[in-house]
Amino acid sequence: MPDNSTAELRLHGKTYTLPLVEGTMGDKAIDISNLLKETGYMTLDSGYKNTGSCASAITFLDGKEGVLRYRGYAIEELANNCIFVEVAYLLLHGKLPNEAELRAYRDLIGRFALIHEDMIHFFDHFPSHASPMSILSVMVNSLCNFYPEMSDDPLVDFDVTSTRLISKIRTIAAFSYKKSMGQPLVYPRHDLCYCGNFLNMMFDKPVHPYQVRPEVVAALNKLLILHADHEQNCSTSTVRLVGSAGVNIYAAISAGINALWGPLHGGANEAVIDMLETIYADDSNVRKYIDKAKDRSDPFRLSGFGHRVYKTFDPRGKIIKQACDEILGVLNVSDPLLDIARRLEEIALKEEYFIERNLYPNVDFYSGIIYRALGIPSNMFTVMFALGRLPGWLAQWKEMREDSTTRIGRPRQVYTGEPARKFVPLAERK
Ligand code: SDX
Repeated sequence: MPDNSTAELRLHGKTYTLPLVEGTMGDKAIDISNLLKETGYMTLDSGYKNTGSCASAITFLDGKEGVLRYRGYAIEELANNCIFVEVAYLLLHGKLPNEAELRAYRDLIGRFALIHEDMIHFFDHFPSHASPMSILSVMVNSLCNFYPEMSDDPLVDFDVTSTRLISKIRTIAAFSYKKSMGQPLVYPRHDLCYCGNFLNMMFDKPVHPYQVRPEVVAALNKLLILHADHEQNCSTSTVRLVGSAGVNIYAAISAGINALWGPLHGGANEAVIDMLETIYADDSNVRKYIDKAKDRSDPFRLSGFGHRVYKTFDPRGKIIKQACDEILGVLNVSDPLLDIARRLEEIALKEEYFIERNLYPNVDFYSGIIYRALGIPSNMFTVMFALGRLPGWLAQWKEMREDSTTRIGRPRQVYTGEPARKFVPLAERK
């Protein structure tokens, strides 16, 4: 009977046996932990398209069926029935909080909302046009200097540190916006919820008080939940890799923020709006831009389309697309870019080029439409992605640090450079 728990590899006439690993939902892997030692061969997998970096119990994706679950709960259920801090608790603690736990968690988050007054002076030294993502990664990285009392083992204070970060990232983001607008800072209030506080810090003005609307708070909760985790994406893998070196958690999260900034990753939500505005300004000529996206000689790609894992609709994109109508209707906003986005999707999904490559709208394709309707500027869209993703990064960092098999992440390479060469002293070089 074939042994289903191992794979055989034949190399130069010798057979090697490699253990097979199967996840809770049937995802399969060949464990190659000892491959180099046993065979002298490593594997090569540019972009890690075929490589699992870890075992994780946090998030499950099925790219074929378009399934996303946080700790076993379907994203649709969480997005439609929870608030963001409830989902943050789920990701960090592995269970949904009961009423007392949620009340205590919300209270603790409220207490950590202020940033040290010394940090506020940092904002005075960024140029007014500074990228909010660069400010966010600098400020988060700097937080480690304000808590010298923390244990050398960041796991010891993890609950405090993670709650502090989830609370303060909101304040840092809002303060950077106020500074860029030349408006006075609006401090967090204890009577407002997580999202309501953020919106108030962003949009309240002494001469024009901001009204925190429940519909807007609900929309922001949904968007942050949809971005909260996504297994081993680029920025989460960055947090794990940087964290595996034993660096403090603020530095690991700051590294994740920088990875997320990329237009191929979290920066795509801002790139989508830029793309839609370009199409709108070009006589809304959607056909022209779909042809450009298909043309291999043209570097243009449809931002917000395609995904490394999803080869069908991104479930988050479907929820956000549905929410667009609802939220724009409540806010009585009509956005011509939404019509262009819809036409782009409708035409692209009928084209062989996109069908044969399984290219569908992803989480970034419609999210910017809602952020715009909430009044958030496009250069802060990726900051919003970071606010949502922070609990996921923290949960993944903790899982990595608690895993006794974790070693410092250090991939190998196949060397393709010069063979050994004899040194030539400067005077003898041609
Ligand atoms: C996020 O990983 C995650 O989970 C990420 C994320 C999360 O929650 O953390 O889901 C968030 O980052 C979503 C993705 C946001 N990025 C974009 O929307 C940028 C546009 N999309 C792409 O650049 C691309 O689809 C990626 C980066 C998302 C995925 O790239 P892959 O898996 O490396 O695929 P690829 O570049 O090898 O593309 C395969 C083919 C190529 O054509 P061929 O060489 O086969 O002819 O599809 C083409 C690509 O040219 N293609 C596109 C395209 N995306 C891929 N063609 C036109 N427009 C696109 N958007």
